[in-house]
Amino acid sequence: MADIRLGILGFGFMGHEHMNLLSKIPEITVSAICDNVPSQMDDAPKGITKYTDMDDLINDPAVNTVLIVVPNPLHKEAAIKAAKAGKNIICEKPAALSVADYDEMVAAAKEAGVRFTVHQQRRHDHDYVPMKKVFRDGLVGKTYLIRSMMYGVNGNMHDWHIYPEMGGGMLYDWGIHLIDQVLDMVPEKVTSVYADIKKVINKDVDDYFLLVFRFESGLTAEIELGTYFLTPRREWMVLGDKGTAIFDVDFVNGMKETKKIVRTRHLLENVPGKITMTSAGPTRSFGPPEEGLLYEEPLPEVKSSEFDWFRGYIDAIENGTEFEITVEQVRRDLCIMDAFRESAKTGKAVEFES
Ligand SMILES: NC(=O)c1ccc[n+]([C@@H]2O[C@H](COP(=O)([O-])OP(=O)(O)OC[C@H]3O[C@@H](n4cnc5c(N)ncnc54)[C@H](O)[C@@H]3O)[C@@H](O)[C@H]2O)c1
Repeated sequence: MADIRLGILGFGFMGHEHMNLLSKIPEITVSAICDNVPSQMDDAPKGITKYTDMDDLINDPAVNTVLIVVPNPLHKEAAIKAAKAGKNIICEKPAALSVADYDEMVAAAKEAGVRFTVHQQRRHDHDYVPMKKVFRDGLVGKTYLIRSMMYGVNGNMHDWHIYPEMGGGMLYDWGIHLIDQVLDMVPEKVTSVYADIKKVINKDVDDYFLLVFRFESGLTAEIELGTYFLTPRREWMVLGDKGTAIFDVDFVNGMKETKKIVRTRHLLENVPGKITMTSAGPTRSFGPPEEGLLYEEPLPEVKSSEFDWFRGYIDAIENGTEFEITVEQVRRDLCIMDAFRESAKTGKAVEFES
């Protein structure tokens, strides 16, 4: 059995989430926690060791793995200290605020011979997993477009996320997850990227982005996120030449989910167009479909759970195998994020890995 004795560094929102989840995973023991604001730990489980200085948590012999859940700019310092203390490292996303910082963290872990991975658990999201299967198994034929959309209504960001120097903004917060999902879904070289990144409501940090990936095969993927879309929803679309797959979660109507593959009974191939009158005038391409033309199939059922990321972690530790989230993948995520930022600055597409 794996000997995983965690020290949770940072007991704010996500530190608490980790504690709750890990209390249901018997293979992992939480040996200690740390927060430099002691009141953050008032509701910690009775008897757990509490520290207010990260050095004390990192050097506690009862801790063999440090779970870094402090705000983004502290990840590097914490990871390097943990590596030097010979502790395995699980780092929250975004692992680092620059590729150079990330490389230093990984080098420190390598030099110390400790294991390092990043908690990019959204590869197990229940809206993502079936859509990955749709794409990978060719369930809509040859895919030409993948769209991943996330729209919220709150506009302003919370707490330290409003400060650029804290690694605030939505690209660091959600962007890293959404980018990682697309790169995990599509096992291809990215040839170029384009981004539009805006500050719609927030003064100093991004709260809207459109990210476009162009892959080697000609496939396009788009991510759009906005914190000020008054039509809040999470939606995935995978569009191919044999169907359109959709997973939509409507945040207004009780998180109602629409999940389906829509197909057509026959494609119109070079036949005389039928003219339909719409409110915008006559059209031969965009009128309503004839009765019975379209039909629906369910999305494939694929099991996923909030425990999957840690289950994978335990397996990798027990068997000495590679983590699901490898250091190379995280580096690629961060590099492509830089390329998106560069594109947004210039307004031009940026060549990536050609
Ligand atoms: N993977 C995910 O889905 C996910 C979700 C949310 C947050 N996160 C990540 O988790 C990290 C923390 O985010 P959060 O939302 O929990 O932030 P938070 O502000 O709620 O919690 C951070 C905690 O760290 C403490 N802290 C700050 N400096 C410290 C120091 N020097 N030593 C010890 N403790 C210190 C703060 O007092 C606070 O309690 C971020 O990197 C964030 O991106 C990941």
